[in-house]
Amino acid sequence: MKAKELPEGFAPASDLLEGRIILVTGAGSGIGRTVALAYAQHGATVLLLGRTVSGLETVYDEIVKASLPEPGIIPLDLGKLEPATLDQISEVITQRYGRLDGLLHNAGMLGDRVPFESCDLNVWQKVMDVNYTAVVILTRYLMDLLKTSDNASVVLTSSGVGARPRAYWGSYAVSKYAIEGLAELLADEFENTSRIRVNVINPGATRTPMRAAAYPNEDPRELKTADALVPLYLYLMDPKLAAHGCRFTF
Ligand SMILES: NC(=O)c1ccc[n+]([C@@H]2O[C@H](COP(=O)([O-])OP(=O)(O)OC[C@H]3O[C@@H](n4cnc5c(N)ncnc54)[C@H](OP(=O)(O)O)[C@@H]3O)[C@@H](O)[C@H]2O)c1
Repeated sequence: MKAKELPEGFAPASDLLEGRIILVTGAGSGIGRTVALAYAQHGATVLLLGRTVSGLETVYDEIVKASLPEPGIIPLDLGKLEPATLDQISEVITQRYGRLDGLLHNAGMLGDRVPFESCDLNVWQKVMDVNYTAVVILTRYLMDLLKTSDNASVVLTSSGVGARPRAYWGSYAVSKYAIEGLAELLADEFENTSRIRVNVINPGATRTPMRAAAYPNEDPRELKTADALVPLYLYLMDPKLAAHGCRFTF
């Protein structure tokens, strides 16, 4: 993937995503919550996917209260995907919206940060299921809907330890390393075969529950908030731009 940064001076218009249908995973908290709200504020109909329904409902209420396009809620545990449920999700999106213009794979779990020799293999598998396998499966199931869009954007989420796995980061690092590989493969394959753009983002240290769990001794006030990431996440969904096959680092 080509390394790229948000172009200096990028100023998203308030109607940048007018009429776009964008699915965000992990939309009920952290970065996903902030970005889903920003997409709605810029005109998109956001499909809020996540495990904890109360979190998704809070985001839904906030969007509706602001008189923005009514979002959809997709309660789903990405660690327990069933073909029948996935068929149902793509069927409902097809009937209600007819296409999908954006897919932000944001949901993730940290798992254990322990020496490899003492890792819990069930936790290892769960992290791979949520952070990596679910991204493969969801993208595959939603391909037909993405192909119906005039300029679909798929964004995968990596991490600093995804580019280069480090000691004690266990399955989290390996799952993100796999995400980098998947992004590379999809970008190469779609380059000449579809209008689907694929990019990967490393949001960098951001003040969220996951970061607090990874670095319990850190002062969260020293970290950027997810709001700082909004322009980059908007840029990646901008239908007028053609960024494809790039690795963005904040
Ligand atoms: N924050 C950082 O410093 C940082 C740095 C580099 C990369 N990232 C990446 O950025 C993304 C967002 O992270 P974040 O910091 O915003 O983390 P977060 O606050 O922990 O949010 C993670 C989101 O993923 C959802 N999720 C977890 N397991 C799920 C499952 N089995 N099924 C469905 N949804 C599930 C969570 O939903 P529930 O609340 O329902 O569990 C939550 O909404 C992640 O991919 C992370 O790896 C973050």
